[in-house]
Amino acid sequence: MSVLAGRSLVVGVCGGIAAYKVAGIVSTLAQRGADVHVVMTEAAQRFVAPLTFHALSANRVHTSLWEMRAREDHVLHIALAHRAAALLIAPATADAIAKLAHGYAEDLLGAVALAATCPAVVAPAMNTSMWEHPAVRANVAALRARGWTIVDPESGFLAERQQGVGRMAAEERIIGALEEAVARTRELEGQRVIVTAGPTREAIDPVRFISNASSGAMGIELAREAALRGAQVDLVLGPTHLEPPHGVRTHRVESAREMHEGVMALREGADAFVASAAVADWRPAVAYDQKVKKGDVDPVIRLERNPDVLAEFGRRKGTTFLVGFAAETQDVERHAREKLIGKALDLICVNDVSRPGIGFASSENEMLLIWRDGSEALPRASKREIAARIWDRVAVLRAAPKGES
Ligand SMILES: Cc1cc2nc3c(=O)[nH]c(=O)nc-3n(C[C@H](O)[C@H](O)[C@H](O)COP(=O)(O)O)c2cc1C
Repeated sequence: MSVLAGRSLVVGVCGGIAAYKVAGIVSTLAQRGADVHVVMTEAAQRFVAPLTFHALSANRVHTSLWEMRAREDHVLHIALAHRAAALLIAPATADAIAKLAHGYAEDLLGAVALAATCPAVVAPAMNTSMWEHPAVRANVAALRARGWTIVDPESGFLAERQQGVGRMAAEERIIGALEEAVARTRELEGQRVIVTAGPTREAIDPVRFISNASSGAMGIELAREAALRGAQVDLVLGPTHLEPPHGVRTHRVESAREMHEGVMALREGADAFVASAAVADWRPAVAYDQKVKKGDVDPVIRLERNPDVLAEFGRRKGTTFLVGFAAETQDVERHAREKLIGKALDLICVNDVSRPGIGFASSENEMLLIWRDGSEALPRASKREIAARIWDRVAVLRAAPKGES
């Protein structure tokens, strides 16, 4: 049985010649048991009539943001987005790619894409010079960085009666990418995952604290990806300006001690614990109740040790799969292996924060994953992409019989 059976899919059809080929795709998806909802742009309707997709999908075709609907989906774009297991955009025109990259919501497809938290697969099709234009390249790169799957166009005979790159990928490639994206969404179904993210703040007085440069972005992406794959996610989040993702339970904390308490309260029965927060090892031994005035105190701050959330979890972990993080600046692999063994981790994700453009407060990362008998280098990519690769590795390690990873 196809992984698409019984799943709701939104297929966004845009105004390109290849729109007629999407009729074949919609037909195959319906035959595989998917519940297909087609959204057409205004331009798409100049190429193919909505009636074609209506007949093939056995669902009403949506062409307007302004449709008035019955109670359960009275706000159409939200209802479509939230029901969808995946979003396919084919053919993705240069125009649609630009709008999607910049988050326009002036038509139904744009609004659905913004409201959707499911995986998105984009199959561009256009003339070679358009495909190679720097504007299109930048917009495609932006979608890729967002974690969307781009099914690159192929080389062949184009509508302009010339050979070149730009022809929409073959149906099998597009449906294959869609199946892969949906398969990922089921992998953690029924599982409970705890993720920590962000820095902690260790108070000196009510307005001053010791903290670090972590933004929480990596942990937020790990929580988002786990939720996307069907897990019930508790995100224990230190102070950050970033928004936690849709569909996860967020517990906001400030200090390392609060983070420790938060995690321990959730520990029982968790299937995986991903400790990506940059928890302060030390806190001021004395935290003043009132704001300290200049000259009021001895200028030396004495520190004391914070509880080690990860080590404690490791000692009492049971069957929970434990993922730790290490930000190192030298002798990266040796330090990480020591931490893996010392804290009884199943996987450690290491970044070398001395390198420019990755790690703390950056949108990209580059990581080395290390487990007891193996390692994998993840090349530089968006944090969202890196989060997906980490969960892929967790799935492989959890599926492997002990000693065979
Ligand atoms: C005959 C014809 C064929 C077109 N084919 C394509 C195409 O293959 N790819 C593309 O990006 N734009 C193509 N366009 C341009 C788009 O239709 C146009 O940019 C439109 O605004 C896209 O709207 P949409 O992105 O909302 O669907 C074509 C236009 C015409 C007139």
